[in-house]
Amino acid sequence: MSHLFEPFTLKGVTLRNRIVAAPMCMYSVNDGLIGGWHRTHLEQLAVGGAGLVTVEMTDVSPEGRITWGDTGLWNDEQAAALKPVAAAIKEAGAVPAIQLGHAGRKASANRPWEGDNQIADDAVHGWQVIAPSALAFGSDKVWKVPREMSVDDIKRVQGDFAAAAARARDAGFEWLELHFAHGFLAHSFRSPYSNHRTDEYGGSFENRSRFILETFAAVRAEWPDEYPLSARIGVVEYDGKDDEMIVESIELINRLKQAGLDFVSVSVGFSTPSATVPWSEPAFMAPIVERVRRETGMPVAIGWGMGDPTIADRVVRNGQSDLVVVGRALLANPHWPYEAAAALGVERASWATLPAPYAFWLEDYVRVTPSVTD
Ligand code: NDP
Ligand code: FNR
Repeated sequence: MSHLFEPFTLKGVTLRNRIVAAPMCMYSVNDGLIGGWHRTHLEQLAVGGAGLVTVEMTDVSPEGRITWGDTGLWNDEQAAALKPVAAAIKEAGAVPAIQLGHAGRKASANRPWEGDNQIADDAVHGWQVIAPSALAFGSDKVWKVPREMSVDDIKRVQGDFAAAAARARDAGFEWLELHFAHGFLAHSFRSPYSNHRTDEYGGSFENRSRFILETFAAVRAEWPDEYPLSARIGVVEYDGKDDEMIVESIELINRLKQAGLDFVSVSVGFSTPSATVPWSEPAFMAPIVERVRRETGMPVAIGWGMGDPTIADRVVRNGQSDLVVVGRALLANPHWPYEAAAALGVERASWATLPAPYAFWLEDYVRVTPSVTD
């Protein structure tokens, strides 16, 4: 029996299965305002059968964009454009989620297929980046030395997160994820690679956690209690100091839990170019995700390398993760949940994953086409 296709209930929402369509930046809009591309992209992921469909990292302020093509939620026009997208995802049977973030010192870059490199402040599509300390990430492409944020900057960005959360709520999203990972602004406050501050936002674990805890509290005040409030957290860097960081991450998650966090999407820190992520190991994050789940008692999601249905099913069945985040496999095939259900032997896989106008014909198609399984 497949565990990947069991429903999952958290607070007031029930996902039809354990598959999360990953937040995936498309870098395809102007001024943060989504349009037809995103409507098609996100709706097809919902039609394809995922339980939760996550709108990509959507930035809370213009300087928080990774590239000039990022989506944003710093004004009401952007919120109005997202509203029909949330409704369409829901209409197709998935729960609509959105991820809010701020890229911090990794902002102001070219789009990946146009070089992926940061752009000088005074060049077209370039701007000054901000971060806890004036320290560059330090790779060939991510080279900009940020302006150190003042306490006023910190309060302003926290207010931007809260305002964007309120807009996401009003636009009809039923699951909110805060991007506290991947070396972006929030995570960069946590990491000694990027935070050398000597005030109350730097130094001790207590101080390095302050930005995240305060930002979370500001968002919690805006986000309705009936819908899940999640955070994507970078729990490990793969830099040789992993155990220390995992222990610290678990402590942070426990504090967030006390402050009202409902769910954790476990991920990597990506704070330093010298990290050695074990990409080639299948389900390489599973033991860490399982530990986070066990030591925090929080429901969790695992990402990276979940595009193999057998592996995705196994991590759920083994109790290592509640949900699985699938990224590129869904770009390859938005109907991947159907493919996975068929591969796992789910009864009437097409009906279990796809809308009736597809399922009806596919069931017949597989009956008369022996090379296709359902
Ligand atoms: P990069 O994408 O620059 O990757 C850093 C190194 O890790 C590169 O050597 C790259 O190899 C390798 N790598 C990255 N991802 C994978 C993977 N899935 N499988 C195998 N090797 C990989 O690092 P970033 O810090 O920019 O991004 C970190 C991760 O986050 C990436 O996987 C990226 O796809 C993802 N991402 C996150 C976004 C977000 O959170 N908003 C936005 C876009 C992407 P190589 O040079 O061979 O590619
Ligand atoms: C990503 N990823 C990502 N992560 C995140 O937290 N917010 C984001 O907006 C993005 N954007 C993004 C864009 C693209 C094009 C890719 C491929 C990836 C990481 C993503 O959510 C996921 O964790 C990884 O892709 C790993 O899953 P797969 O691709 O191995 O299934």
